[in-house]
Amino acid sequence: MSDRKAALLDETRKYHQDVVDGGSFVPGVTEIWPSGAVLDADDRAALVDAALDMRIAAGVSSRRFESAFARKLGIRKAHLTNSGSSANLLAVTSLTSPMLEDARLRPDDEVITVAAGFPTTVNPVLQNGLVPVFVDVDLGTYNTTPERIERAIGPRTRAIALAHTMGNPYQAAEIAELAAQHELFLIEDNCDALGSEYRGQVTGTFGDLATVSFYPAHHLTMGEGGCVLTPNLVLARIVESLRDWGRDCWCAPGESDTCLKRFKLQLGTLPAGYDHKYVYSHVGYNLKGTDMQAALGLSQLSKLDYFTAVRRRNWRRLRESLDGIPHLLLPEATPNSEPSWFGFVITVDAEAPFSRRDMVRFLEDRKIGTRQLFAGNLTRHPAYESQRYRVVGDLTNSDVVTEQSFWIGVYPALTDEMIDYVVATIREFVSGRGR
Ligand SMILES: Cc1ncc(COP(=O)(O)O)c(C=O)c1O
Repeated sequence: MSDRKAALLDETRKYHQDVVDGGSFVPGVTEIWPSGAVLDADDRAALVDAALDMRIAAGVSSRRFESAFARKLGIRKAHLTNSGSSANLLAVTSLTSPMLEDARLRPDDEVITVAAGFPTTVNPVLQNGLVPVFVDVDLGTYNTTPERIERAIGPRTRAIALAHTMGNPYQAAEIAELAAQHELFLIEDNCDALGSEYRGQVTGTFGDLATVSFYPAHHLTMGEGGCVLTPNLVLARIVESLRDWGRDCWCAPGESDTCLKRFKLQLGTLPAGYDHKYVYSHVGYNLKGTDMQAALGLSQLSKLDYFTAVRRRNWRRLRESLDGIPHLLLPEATPNSEPSWFGFVITVDAEAPFSRRDMVRFLEDRKIGTRQLFAGNLTRHPAYESQRYRVVGDLTNSDVVTEQSFWIGVYPALTDEMIDYVVATIREFVSGRGR
């Protein structure tokens, strides 16, 4: 590294110290966000380093991130994308690839999922002409169960696509086993659960494919960004092709002829020797991330274990301090799991002398940020009114989530002092409204 660059990065670190808000926490004045990016001087320096090198497209840092991230999770392949939603689009679309021959998903095939969740877990199913089959969730864990999934399996069922809700793993080992028994693909939307474990195995490694989001609310951030994970080399090749315009060639940007057949193949009805770099085997997209994102991701990755530990500690402090408060259903970890929590979900009893709306307003007025559990019951949103889907069982709990649940933050920037203020504010709210 040149002396000038080293000096600029040193200045960048100093600048970071100047601009970060070191102000003390003032209850009721300082905002307590439900989520947010936790960025330090190294992150700022990593981003400036990439900018100084003008690494503005996908390149060497993207590849380094992909291999470091795959190694960290113990999975064969990781493909960086421009968002978690793009990762979900690639994961579902990859299952329709002609490269899977008879195993490929075809229009009208069904994918089992939950109604209470984030829209872009489900949207790629519809965008591929497939049919989502919605099942309900449990209250407390906010995940569905292998039993509900098994009841939903029909003659056209080909896949299961589920998010680990709020970082709380579903019974991934049992659901993967069920998928294997019925020859279904499993997609784990791990966007909210990076660092979680189920039966000692990290989430994101149970499925045929898994996805991650690096949006600032998530466990690691690149600003915008995402990743597709897979242990399957055929699926990895398909994901890469779909991500990179649908091309058949797998040379990294700036490379040529790694297969030594660049001008030797005859594919489709193209003339023999047509440049492999411009041969397309999928109807693809361009959903790549950039090296600026990857540089930040690499710096963030070194802090994943610390972030996970703080998320767990914050969640536990809230859980223990709120225990026993009347009229509130508190969250429960799935048995045999170690969640890396995304947030802390609270469901207000239907019989409580107050509503979710009252409670959320009280907290927000006191600068405690709240969020709904994403869409609640997706089938109640205008976008899905005219879509084709099936519901198996009822969606009673998904409706409870829609009407009575919300969540507050556990992300690593929250301090004990902030959490204690959140607890005191919730106690004040509930006790002021009688039993
Ligand atoms: C479960 C889940 N899946 C997918 C996404 C989409 O990720 P992104 O915002 O990076 O597109 C989110 C976003 O928060 C999410 O919570």
